[in-house]
Amino acid sequence: TINRSTIAPTLKQYRYISHEVSKDKLIVFDTTLRDGEQSPGVTLKTEEKLEIARHLSALGIDVIEAGFPIASQGDFEAVARIAKEVGPLMTGREKTGKPVIIAGLSRAAEKDIKRCYEAVSHAPLHRIHTFLATSDIHLKYKLKFDRDECRKRAAAAVAYAKTLCDDVEFSSEDSGRSDKDFLCRVLEEVIEAGVTTVNIPDTVGYSNPEEYGRLIKYLIKNTRGSDKVIWSTHCHDDLGLATANTLSGILNGARQIEVSINGIGERAGNTPFEEVIMNIHTHPDYYPVYHTINTQQIYRTSNIVSSLSGMVIQPNKAIVGANAFLHESGIHQDGVLKNKLTYEIIRPEDVGIFNVNLVLGKLSGRNAFRTRLEELGYGDMSEDDVNVAFGRFKALADNKKRITDHDILALLSDRVSSG
Ligand code: KIV
Ligand code: ZN
Repeated sequence: TINRSTIAPTLKQYRYISHEVSKDKLIVFDTTLRDGEQSPGVTLKTEEKLEIARHLSALGIDVIEAGFPIASQGDFEAVARIAKEVGPLMTGREKTGKPVIIAGLSRAAEKDIKRCYEAVSHAPLHRIHTFLATSDIHLKYKLKFDRDECRKRAAAAVAYAKTLCDDVEFSSEDSGRSDKDFLCRVLEEVIEAGVTTVNIPDTVGYSNPEEYGRLIKYLIKNTRGSDKVIWSTHCHDDLGLATANTLSGILNGARQIEVSINGIGERAGNTPFEEVIMNIHTHPDYYPVYHTINTQQIYRTSNIVSSLSGMVIQPNKAIVGANAFLHESGIHQDGVLKNKLTYEIIRPEDVGIFNVNLVLGKLSGRNAFRTRLEELGYGDMSEDDVNVAFGRFKALADNKKRITDHDILALLSDRVSSG
């Protein structure tokens, strides 16, 4: 039986008491395991999802969207296991001081919402995330009902979700192409029904930063009850603007961002987590928010997600690409040798890259190999597993001069799948 949860967080818990009193806490909502897993060609096994979820928790992510429980029995079980096994973890969560919130997605229908609650409610902190499209294009061609029906269904979905859990998020799918005033009316109804987070997806990556920022500002100003909820961004990268749009959303009042590791997701992907966080890190005085992410975990989490999802990171990818901290030309190398500030705006160690110049090859020893494993997120390997991997590494190094992180991850690729 389903009972209203007594331990779901209230809005007050989000309002952080921090030494940085003048700034608001930015809630980081990671959707790698839901929207990210919707990347063409990506299917993660439950054990792989659990491993990613553990890393996300240790990274300091505030909300993990663990999946879409009604989508399949497998998705349901994965979300339930993440809720049970990762939901209570406190490792690496000193800055946030509380466990991660486990969320699941559901359409605006009672059976979806109930199924979602059954999966997420195993976590000490959990959230139901329900969505309904609000653009005329989606209403006419996909949903085949009118604006009035849309308003009613959105409000009814939130009202039902609130009978199960305090923490409820509503997303107005395709907000980027929805009529602004109609959107305000829908959001007023869901706020009235008790929603705690309102998410504004630019589902097809259509907006530009100025437009998206203006939309967030307009909605906050013109929706009754807007001060009772957290406003959230959810951007897609079809035009390469997801990071810029998300940052513009923050500048215009959003206090939650929905992102994925390495930006994996439908089509061109979601907003890359690492890019938004390092923009804020690099311009601390510019953004009116602070976050509680352990940035030194970024590189290893990125590598784990890349290796388990099979989504290779392009070498010149911002923040986590293999070339992101390498200097090739003579002039740049000379500058960096004199003073790193000449060509480095981020210290590699701030994202967890400690040995940018350490190239592994056949003369490298077991210690250097083990250190690299730790940096890549495999610090928990047993001595036996390390020995096996080191043997494989030496065999490869006989035929290849420079061993990359990607080569090392390939050497370990059977580790997770074999359990
Ligand atoms: O892009 C989108 O609209 C979504 C919603 C379901 C949140 O992923
Ligand atoms: Zn999306």
